[in-house]
Amino acid sequence: MTEHSSPGRGDLEAILLVGGKGTRLRPLTLGVPKPLLPTAGVPFLAHQLARARAHGVRRIVFATSYRASMFAEAFGDGSAFGLDLHYMTEETPLGTGGAIRNAADALTCGPDSPVLILNGDTLSGHDIGAQVERHVTRGAAVTLHLTEVDDPSRFGCVPIDDDGRVTAFLEKTPNPVTNLINAGCYVFTRSVIDTIPAGEVVSVERETFPGLIEAGERVLGYADRSYWLDVGTPEAFVQGSRDLVLGRLSSPALPGVPGEALAMPGARISPEAKVMGGTAVGAGAVVESGATVSGSVVGDGAVIRAGAVVSDSVVGPGARVEAGAVVRDAVIGDRAVIGPGNELRAGARVWPDVHLPECAIRFSADT
Ligand code: GDD
Ligand code: MG
Repeated sequence: MTEHSSPGRGDLEAILLVGGKGTRLRPLTLGVPKPLLPTAGVPFLAHQLARARAHGVRRIVFATSYRASMFAEAFGDGSAFGLDLHYMTEETPLGTGGAIRNAADALTCGPDSPVLILNGDTLSGHDIGAQVERHVTRGAAVTLHLTEVDDPSRFGCVPIDDDGRVTAFLEKTPNPVTNLINAGCYVFTRSVIDTIPAGEVVSVERETFPGLIEAGERVLGYADRSYWLDVGTPEAFVQGSRDLVLGRLSSPALPGVPGEALAMPGARISPEAKVMGGTAVGAGAVVESGATVSGSVVGDGAVIRAGAVVSDSVVGPGARVEAGAVVRDAVIGDRAVIGPGNELRAGARVWPDVHLPECAIRFSADT
C-alpha cells in the first residue's frame, strides 16, 4: 500500500453542491433555495459550513445554479465565517457530476490532493477528518461516506466488501441489496474529477461512480453510525432544525445553547405560552399566551395567536396562525394566514400569501 502524506489541517478544499431546486420542499423553496432555509436560527448551510471548518476545511467552492446569486448574498467571501468562499454557476444545471467538474476550475490544489465534495442538504455528525485520512492512506480514487437507513430505495444504495471497497452503486433502486447508502459526502482525488467530461450533464451517482467501479478504480466506503439526515422533505427539514436546537447534533453555528427552544433576537414569547421540543422562533416572531408550539420552525415575524397549537410544522416568515387554529405536520407558506378554528394535519401545505378564512378546514364533526 502506498503511503501518501495527509493534508495539514486547513489545506483541504471542498466543493458544495447547491444547485438543486428543492422541489419536494415547496412552497418553502419557491423563493429561497433549500440550503438557505432558516434552520435552527441560521441558514441551513451555516451548520454544514461550520462543521466543515471544524474539520480543517478553509476554502469552499459553491456549485450553484438555481437562484445562484442568493448564496453569495448570504455568505459573501466567507471571511465572517473564517472561510474562503468562491462561487461557480452553471447556466443550466449540469447534474451532480457536471457541477463538480465545473466547480473544480476554482480549486487550487494539485492532481494528487484529496478534495471534499458535499451535498448541500445533509446534516452529518461524521468525522470528515477520518474519512479523508482513510482516503489518503489507502490511495483511493474516491471515498464515500456511507450510513445505514431503513428505506435505502430513496437513496444511492452502496454495497461494500470486507475490505471496505465499494462493489456497486445503485441509485434509487427498487431492489436495494443493503441498507448502507451514500450519505452525500465524498473525498475525490483531484485528478479523478478531471476525468469527468467538462460542460456536459453528468450524474456522479448514475455515471461517474458506476463507471469508476466498473473500471476497477479504488472506490472505498467510510461507513459509520453518527447522526445523519437528508433534509429534502418538509418532515425531515423540521426534524433537522429540531435536532440542532435540542443538541442531538452539535453545531458550532447554533446561535444559542441547545435546549427545548431557541428564540432569535426580537422574538416575543408570552410566559403563558408553551414553546418546546426543539422549536426555533425567528427574529421578531410572536407567540401569544396559551399557544403551544412544539418541534417546529417559526419564521421571522410570524405570529402564533392565543391558544393556537403548532406541532412539527414550518410556519413561514410573516405567516399568522390565528387564535385556536391547529397546525400539525404541516407547512405554512410565507405570509399566509390560517384563520381561527382551522385544523391542518399531516402533509398539508399552504402556499404563500393564501388566507384561510375562519373554520375553512376542520376534521372533527362537532363544529
Ligand atoms: N450545482 C448543481 N447542479 N447541484 C446539483 C444539481 C445540479 O445540476 N443537481 C443536484 N444538485 C445538488 C443538490 O442541490 C443537492 O445538494 C445535491 O446535489 C444532491 O441532490 P438531491 O436532489 O438532494 O439528491 P437526492 O437527495 O435525491 O440524492 C442524493 O443524496 C442522497 C443522500 O442525501 C444522491 O447523492 C444519493 O445517492 C444520496 O443517497
Ligand atoms: Mg437530497
